[in-house]
Amino acid sequence: MLQNNFSLQDKKIVITGASSGIGRACAISCSEWGATLLLVGRNGEELEKTKSMLTGAGNCTLLQLDLTQFDEVSLKIKALVDLFGAVDGVIHAAGISTTLPFRNCSPEKMNDFFQVNVVAALHLTQLLIKPGCVNANGASIVFITSVMSQVGESAKVLYSMTKGALLAASRSMAIELAPKKIRVNCIAPGVVDTPMSQKAYYSQNSALKEKITKLHPLGLGSAEDVANACVYLLSHAGRWVTGTQLMVDGGYTAR
Ligand SMILES: NC(=O)c1ccc[n+]([C@@H]2O[C@H](COP(=O)([O-])OP(=O)(O)OC[C@H]3O[C@@H](n4cnc5c(N)ncnc54)[C@H](OP(=O)(O)O)[C@@H]3O)[C@@H](O)[C@H]2O)c1
Repeated sequence: MLQNNFSLQDKKIVITGASSGIGRACAISCSEWGATLLLVGRNGEELEKTKSMLTGAGNCTLLQLDLTQFDEVSLKIKALVDLFGAVDGVIHAAGISTTLPFRNCSPEKMNDFFQVNVVAALHLTQLLIKPGCVNANGASIVFITSVMSQVGESAKVLYSMTKGALLAASRSMAIELAPKKIRVNCIAPGVVDTPMSQKAYYSQNSALKEKITKLHPLGLGSAEDVANACVYLLSHAGRWVTGTQLMVDGGYTAR
């Protein structure tokens, strides 16, 4: 009988951005694969909705939190992990996006984007990898970056800047944390159907939507496509993978 190397049975996984889109799909997939979940988001009602969509037998705890409120995050995460137990994996899906010409990217906007997409993710990781918070036998951290960490696009400076920074930070983290058997990887989606992409400029116009779709040789993706890749990196099947970025982009960056 083969052992299922993709199982997340008995694993405790923290998922940010779990109130929407990719984070919600990750919660559903991780639950299906047996994980016990700590779901983080700002919108309490939407977090409850995610919880109601889970089918697995593992427990689920909700944490309503703005990840840029760093003092509150430190206090609440510590208290909750004391109850939740040592963490085996983290998916950082919380993030914001915009399309803004470079000339309009003020220092304040650059800072706002950096706080949410980079600092909040790194700060939470710091807290979760502390002794007692993380499984002493190892763990897996997954950051959701974007194809924009790898290639450019007009009016995407703010967003690309943050995703590139997250990718660079994850590689150094992977090396620093390898002695503790903590693996650190990124998943870079192309456009997938979520509230974020539904609000984007190209979704407001069918010709533009078709143009964006054509940039993906396999067409646009779904949040589940990203979640499946996360399950792989969190599971035993990904045990020798660290410091890398997996493109889950329907071929967007292959051209
Ligand atoms: N959709 C795409 O096409 C696509 C492509 C490439 C990469 N990505 C990346 O994938 C990730 C998830 O995107 P998505 O499409 O699922 O977007 P989404 O549906 O807009 O969800 C974003 C999530 O981030 C959370 N969030 C935002 N700011 C936060 C903060 N300050 N504190 C705590 N949570 C916060 C939101 O929480 P609340 O709703 O509770 O406020 C929400 O759960 C993002 O990092 C995004 O950059 C998305």
